[in-house]
Amino acid sequence: MTPSNDKQLIREQLSAHFKAMQNIHLRDLFMHDPHRGKNYTQQLPSLYIDFSKNILTNETLGLLFKFATASQVEESIRAMFTGEKINITENRAVLHTALRSNVDQEIEIDNNDIVGPVHAELKKIKQFVTTIHDKSYRGWTNKPIDTFVNIGIGGSDLGPKMVVDALEKYRQGETRSFFISNIDYQAIEFLQKSINPETTLFIVSSKSFNTIETLTNAETLKTWMQQFGCDDLSKHFIAVSNNLDATNEFGIKAENVFRLWDWVGGRFSLWSAIGLPIALAIGFDNFEDLLAGAHEMDEHFSKTPIEKNIPVILALIDYWYSNFFDAETHAFIPYDESLKLFPDYLSQLFMESNGKSFDLNGHRVDYKTMPIVWGSAGTNSQHSYFQLLHQGTHFVPIDFLVPLSKRGDKKHHAQLLANCLAQSQSLMQGENNSDPNKHFSGNKPSTTILYSELTPKTLGSLIAMYEHRTFVQGLLWQINSFDQYGVELGKKLAVDIYKNLQGTKTVEDLDSSTQNLISLYKQSNT
Ligand code: F6P
Repeated sequence: MTPSNDKQLIREQLSAHFKAMQNIHLRDLFMHDPHRGKNYTQQLPSLYIDFSKNILTNETLGLLFKFATASQVEESIRAMFTGEKINITENRAVLHTALRSNVDQEIEIDNNDIVGPVHAELKKIKQFVTTIHDKSYRGWTNKPIDTFVNIGIGGSDLGPKMVVDALEKYRQGETRSFFISNIDYQAIEFLQKSINPETTLFIVSSKSFNTIETLTNAETLKTWMQQFGCDDLSKHFIAVSNNLDATNEFGIKAENVFRLWDWVGGRFSLWSAIGLPIALAIGFDNFEDLLAGAHEMDEHFSKTPIEKNIPVILALIDYWYSNFFDAETHAFIPYDESLKLFPDYLSQLFMESNGKSFDLNGHRVDYKTMPIVWGSAGTNSQHSYFQLLHQGTHFVPIDFLVPLSKRGDKKHHAQLLANCLAQSQSLMQGENNSDPNKHFSGNKPSTTILYSELTPKTLGSLIAMYEHRTFVQGLLWQINSFDQYGVELGKKLAVDIYKNLQGTKTVEDLDSSTQNLISLYKQSNT
């Protein structure tokens, strides 16, 4: 039998099983198995995963594992780690895992070693960070640099910004970090009020170096620096890119360009020189710990059988909810203020990777793929949208993330943890009440991810877990998680509309709505 026939058969079995599961409440699953709260958990070196509050039994997991096997998950994991060109639409390998590999690992693409260049680039990052931190690197007026501004967007912004924010307590020295991504000029104005041009380093971060927002912001800030009298821009503008011609054209010296490679996708790139703002903020040793945490997860993911493999298990549960329970969304709720930007980061990781409707053979899929990813920090979220989670009509699986210990006030932390556990408990068990307004149906699934404290290593492990979960989802849905053609059309149309707004080009065949909106703009800007 071919794998696709196998998959079809298992899908039918899952469908029949789903019908039976619809009559079972999570509360009953807990009642019938007093050890459920331990049986469906896993301790990894840096993370503890409790998936017991999900609507599943051993039979569910057994069928899902069969589905993973028929989807050739283990073979595909091997293919990714060994540099096969699994990004088939772009004919590229997918090797963000090589960015956190040990120096003695052997990984090649087309018979070329890639571990050597990765570690050479890491050495360059380390040396650069040292010159900033020991104040030997100076700006145009001979003052040391104390402010870093990352100019980038998407994967060249969200990952480093989230990590720098999350690891603020690890910051080295009296440095400050800013991230400019939006093309909205207000962001630049705010930045300009907050920084001293003489002590600021701009990192123009763009894999392609042709992203309009990044280049426009970088040009504007370059002009601003010149207006301040900066007569040596090379001391204040460095770049991270795969496009050396473009960085050269922008005026950045070759030795001030940090490299990345086409086998690193933007949303998987924070481990490369795209993570330079992280190393600058928290120091190179902590950056290395972040990489070590991710490597730890890579080891688990590449060496553990699927039945114990956490990214695989979580992706299978996602598949179960999307394709049988019709889940349209998935919420990620960190009870950890340090992770307040994590849901934004995950939105790009999951939705840009798996928000697709054509399979690897170019056929339109007849099943749901990636649900909408959203969320924000608890407890604030309890006072905004939790009403819907408890009593609304949508089925919303949730990931709760929470540290077991925290520096700072014990009372606050115990309250934080209590609230997190109370939410997952109440969503799961509900509460009967004859007054429908006060009735909680429960049976709302969630996974709880615990860690002892958010260290660089823990965070590395956590991010890598989500990266691998994304990849496995794509395998189950048979889609390529590593391209993003869906962002291109809007970019292309914006070029013409911009020219139209500027009056340098008239586009004839515009729809009447866009035409009308353009004329309103023109009227209000005459
Ligand atoms: O527009 C989407 C995208 O291509 C993302 O995939 C990427 O992370 C982002 O733009 C930024 O791209 P670049 O690093 O090439 O500027």
